[in-house]
Amino acid sequence: MATVSFDKATRIYPGSEKPAVDALDIEIEDGEFLVLVGPSGCGKSTSLRMLAGLEDVNAGAIRIGDRDVTHLPPKDRDIAMVFQNYALYPHMTVADNMGFALKIAGVPKAEIRQKVEDAAKILDLTEYLGRKPKALSGGQRQRVAMGRAIVREPQVFLMDEPLSNLDAKLRVSTRTQIASLQRRLGITTVYVTHDQVEAMTMGDRVAVLKDGLLQQVDTPRNMYDRPANLFVAGFIGSPAMNLVEVPITDGGVKFGNAVVPVDRDALSAATDKTVTVGVRPEHFDVTGSDSGQGLAVTVNVVEELGADAYVYGTAKVGGDDSKDLVVRVSGRDVPEKGSTLYIVPRSGETHVFSTSTGARLSD
Ligand SMILES: Nc1ncnc2c1ncn2[C@@H]1O[C@H](COP(=O)(O)OP(=O)(O)OP(=O)(O)O)[C@@H](O)[C@H]1O
Ligand SMILES: [Mg+2]
Repeated sequence: MATVSFDKATRIYPGSEKPAVDALDIEIEDGEFLVLVGPSGCGKSTSLRMLAGLEDVNAGAIRIGDRDVTHLPPKDRDIAMVFQNYALYPHMTVADNMGFALKIAGVPKAEIRQKVEDAAKILDLTEYLGRKPKALSGGQRQRVAMGRAIVREPQVFLMDEPLSNLDAKLRVSTRTQIASLQRRLGITTVYVTHDQVEAMTMGDRVAVLKDGLLQQVDTPRNMYDRPANLFVAGFIGSPAMNLVEVPITDGGVKFGNAVVPVDRDALSAATDKTVTVGVRPEHFDVTGSDSGQGLAVTVNVVEELGADAYVYGTAKVGGDDSKDLVVRVSGRDVPEKGSTLYIVPRSGETHVFSTSTGARLSD
């Protein structure tokens, strides 16, 4: 087991001027499960491949434990990688696939057999050890790929979208299995996904990347409760946080006809005339139409989920322009399509960002 540090690690691909990964700085703890997440092309695979030694590091350094591995070949880094396509050898049995790396390393046969059997037991693959990959389901193949990494007892596991070939239901059960297996083995893991739900449910901490730049690295809870900027606010959470540009007024900012109190220090930091306020769909209170309070939302679509429902509507929030909003309401009290819903953002649950820089202004 070991810590992993990206120390301002930078990758500039030949022929490109802009770094694919720009001065990435992350300290990963021993035994931690860190998820790298972000939109396509943001540099997740490049970051992982730099750690694996499959991609040159053009500036900065990468350390595993106290070893500087920046220029070490992959085989000397003591890592095991699980890829999206599993890369199983089709002509070998499951047992041979799992033991292959150990065989290459010259480990005695009996010891390989023991390690493969132990891993198969953990992964529920014992009865498939004699089969070829083509006679397995997608989920079973995925577990063989995991098994191949486990038998090597590496210091670090690297996984690049290992669930993307599975159907939606299997993804959910497999992500739980991988997360609990990682916790049991306690091996430091860096896991790449573009799926923010996967990131939030699996990671001890989540690192959000955009255009090769680290936006925030935090626990899933902090990431959700205190997104560091507009990008993270919009990226983490589903349905996404409502983000509305609103004018600054005395004592706060105006959200519809409600004044949302905002920390003075935060506002004085904003040199703009407007700020962008963020409210998650579950952080609105529904008020009665007769209370004269709240923002009038015209209901366009209602998505019923049983326990609760998401109302997709439009409202005049800032200026004269109508703005689309998503509001979570109780499943027992669902408004009609076409009706008007009156809402106020719950105090203490609003986020304020600079419209121009995107930086978080509120606490
Ligand atoms: N071998 C390469 N040569 C040149 N540019 C590359 C190479 N590999 C990746 N890139 C570029 O580097 C950037 C980051 O790519 P990367 O594969 O790391 O993204 P990613 O976050 O893994 O995306 P995805 O979610 O689509 O897998 C992209 O702009 C990509 O086009
Ligand atoms: Mg990728």
